[in-house]
Amino acid sequence: MLQSLPRRVRIVEVGPRDGLQNEGRAISTADKVRFIDLLSEAGFEMIEATSFVHPKAVPQLADGAEVLGTILKRPGVRYPVLVPNGRGMERALAAGAREVAVFTAATESFNRRNINATIEESLGNIAEVVRLARAEGVWVRGYVSTVFGCPYQGAVAPEAVLHVAERLLELGVDELSLGDTIGVATPRVVEAVLAPAAERFGVDRVGLHFHDTRGTALANTLLALQMGYQIFDSSAGGLGGCPFALGAAGNLATEDLLYFLNGLGIETGVNLETVISASGFIEDQVGHPLTSKVYQAVRSQEGERCSWLLAPGS
Ligand code: HMG
Ligand code: MG
Repeated sequence: MLQSLPRRVRIVEVGPRDGLQNEGRAISTADKVRFIDLLSEAGFEMIEATSFVHPKAVPQLADGAEVLGTILKRPGVRYPVLVPNGRGMERALAAGAREVAVFTAATESFNRRNINATIEESLGNIAEVVRLARAEGVWVRGYVSTVFGCPYQGAVAPEAVLHVAERLLELGVDELSLGDTIGVATPRVVEAVLAPAAERFGVDRVGLHFHDTRGTALANTLLALQMGYQIFDSSAGGLGGCPFALGAAGNLATEDLLYFLNGLGIETGVNLETVISASGFIEDQVGHPLTSKVYQAVRSQEGERCSWLLAPGS
């Protein structure tokens, strides 16, 4: 069964945005830049750098323009930034963004709390962002949140997800990312969404954004891999969550995902040890222990490290 897995996977590192947006302690611009620069050295093809949402909604990322303008943009790496509307897009373009990520949800109540808009209104804002993006040749990613469960509405009908996903693709987004915002998904629920999604949209332009709140993210990842999906979001050290989704702590940790993919012999181009160094740097800045299991295991063996744990394909 494992023979049919994809040979290569693209990991989208979202720690600098999805991770840091959830942190209470103010992180300096210089430290955010350093974190991203360390991640750039790890070999990711895509690192979500920051967001251009209302600075009062997410004060931690109010310095998005300085961050994006200062990081060392490594050739071959794309640095999308999260934008909610035309105003955010103008700010992102002025800061030099060449890739952006828009976002809406599969459920009305979450969308209202997150961006103060109905799904339809947010799609209107996204249409404006995509129009501006097209005019400037900017690449667009489209997140759908609360795909597998909503903190306010509970279970979500797969049809509701497929409808929003289809609308985003019709508007012209280049890639989707389907989010388990509060980390409630289990493989059965994942299959109920991803099987029809694969039929309707294919697997090449659909990413998965699992949160590991309840420890199910890697089981869900394996199922998605078996279905042919090849794009996975994760966050260095397991930083993150969403400040507008109660109980959303814990993106799937990049180290845990990488260790898992390495063990399956799936290429990513990302160096686990370099990610662990980046996480070690940001752990000191956020001031609390990081949740990634692989990160913790490796750090606890510092000095007599099991180097074979880090080797691809081990
Ligand atoms: P609003 O108050 O409804 O905005 O907020 P508005 O359109 O009524 O405008 C009010 C004022 O804000 C205006 O200024 C606008 O210009 C200004 P005024 O005319 O009063 O002087 N404004 C802005 N200023 C700067 N940047 C902007 C911007 N937009 C409007 N972009 C809004 C609506 C969407 C702006 C707000 O609710 C917001 O910023 N929310 C952000 C929420 C957020 O960042 N959530 C976390 C990210 S989503 C996530 O984490 C999930 C994900 O990871 C996937 C998953 O896990 O599921 C992606
Ligand atoms: Mg998220």
